[in-house]
Parts: sequence; structure tokens; C-alpha cells
Amino acid sequence: MQTVRELEVLRNSVAALRDSGGSIALVPTMGALHDGHLTLVRRAKEAADHVVASIFVNPRQFGEGEDLDAYPRQLQRDSELLEAEGVALLWAPLPEEVYPPGYATNISVAGVSEGLCGGDRPGHFDGVATVVCKLFNQVMPDMAFFGEKDWQQLAVIRRMARDLDLTRPRVDAIHGVPIVREDDGLAMSSRNAYLSAEQRQQAASLPKAMRDAIAVIAGGGSAGRPLGNLREVLQVAGFESVDYAEVRDADSLERLEADNGNARLFVAARIGGTRLIDNMPISR
Ligand code: PAJ
Repeated sequence: MQTVRELEVLRNSVAALRDSGGSIALVPTMGALHDGHLTLVRRAKEAADHVVASIFVNPRQFGEGEDLDAYPRQLQRDSELLEAEGVALLWAPLPEEVYPPGYATNISVAGVSEGLCGGDRPGHFDGVATVVCKLFNQVMPDMAFFGEKDWQQLAVIRRMARDLDLTRPRVDAIHGVPIVREDDGLAMSSRNAYLSAEQRQQAASLPKAMRDAIAVIAGGGSAGRPLGNLREVLQVAGFESVDYAEVRDADSLERLEADNGNARLFVAARIGGTRLIDNMPISR
């Protein structure tokens, strides 16, 4: 596996991969890799001849007072994990390579960016859309893989690809991969590393409370009461706050009061200062 930190070198390396024939898949990440990320790489490997992974802790998607500086960085370990998965190329640019002096362009996707994480983290999805568009243009992959852990992010990226007529990759080659969970149900996340042993145990009540709420909502009726119960259960379990707990249409992300046959439950909650997100289908 080749690790590349400069755009000029990346373009040459991607061109060499192209010349060798076959398709290229991109798996964008911010590093601190876990089995969720590696599952994306495995899906990419099954679907394409060459996998390019990127690791870039993108400052534009972190808000004021968020964990940009504290975000775990472990490039050596990450590159060993990617190499073991058979990744051909690791693109790990320096911030000034992605945003050189004078950089002035922003991509903002309306609609699906609004509410949920977009409501709690103003500008976050502009930062995501902008960097993902740049990564697409830098690597020019035939396909790309993203996790359903960040369901809203995936919706934003697909909307952008459709609206901007992107061709590498095309919108229908942007693939979502189901959430990978720990044994107790907690969705894997680089941010789980911030949790103390006690908080880590308490955090497992998030997916459990979601499954309990879904059992009620799927039975019909208004989501109001089960969502109220979910908030209460999480506070009792040790979460200090619930940023949102909402039912939305899985595709349009429009807010729903009850199951419409295509609904998902979305939750963000904070424990020990760490913000955890999760989402699950209500309708099957
Ligand atoms: P990051 O949080 O590192 O996640 C990289 C990819 O891994 C995302 O597509 C995310 O949804 C996926 N992922 C994370 N945890 C997962 C899990 N438990 N199961 C399945 N997939 C999981 O998301 C980002 O980075 C950034 O916003 C990025 C897209 C790289 C743009 O900067």
C-alpha cells in the first residue's frame, strides 16, 4: 500500500492504478479506524478492483468548541490496518494541501442538511459536502462507500452528487453500508474512545432504548409518547442530554409523527461530554 500526502503525487498514483486496469472505489474516513470503517473497506474490495482509502480530519466540518484538536489521530496504526485489508492507496493529505491559502469555496446542500445533526452542528454538513466533493475530484473513483451510521451525511452526499451531476462517482455508485455494532449493540464510533469504562457501559442503553421505542412505534399510533420515554430512559441511564430523538422518512428525511412505512428513528445524545448518534429502521 502506498501512502500519499500530496495532491500531485496522488494524481500520478491514481493514474497508475487506472492504467493497470479495473475499477476504483473510494472509502473516505477521518481515521482512528475501527471495524465499522474496515467493513466499508471490505465492501469496497468486493465491489472494485482497487480500493483507495482517505484519512483526513476535516477542520471545516468541526464547529467552534467541538473536538477538532482532541480527535484521535493514529496514522501509523490506521495504515497498518488498511494495508492488511488490501487497500492499494492511502490518501492522507495535510490540511494545507486540501485548503491552501486563498481557499474560498463552500458547498451547501439545503433540505436534507436541515435538522437532526445539521440543527445541532451549524455548518457541519457544508464542511462534509465540501470535503467529500473535493475527495471525489481528487481521486475520481468509480464508486464510493459510506456508513449508514451517518445516515443524514449519506443523504447529503447523494443529494450533492445528484444536484451537481457528479460522474466520478455517479450518484447510483455511492453505496451505503449498514451500521456495525459492538456486542452490546452500541454503534462503533471513533468517539467511543472518549468514554470511561462506566460511561461505555451506560452508552449501551442508547441502542436498547431505541429498540424499545421502535417496538412501540412500529405497533402504530403517535411517536410522541415512546420518544418521551426514550429521553427519560437515557437520562436515568446517565446521559446528560438528548440533542434529538425523532422519527423521519428514511429518504426525504422529512419529520414524521408516526410510522409511514418508510420511517427511521434518529437519536443524538451526550454522555460525559461525548455526543453519540444512532439510527434504526422502524418499518421493515
Ligand atoms: P468518519 O467518522 O471517520 O467515518 C468514515 C465512514 O465510516 C463514514 O462513512 C461513516 O458513516 C462510516 N462509519 C463510521 N462508523 C461506522 C459504523 N459503526 N458502521 C458503519 N459505518 C461506519 O464520516 C466521516 O468520517 C466524515 O464525515 C467524512 C465522510 C470522511 C468526511 O470528512
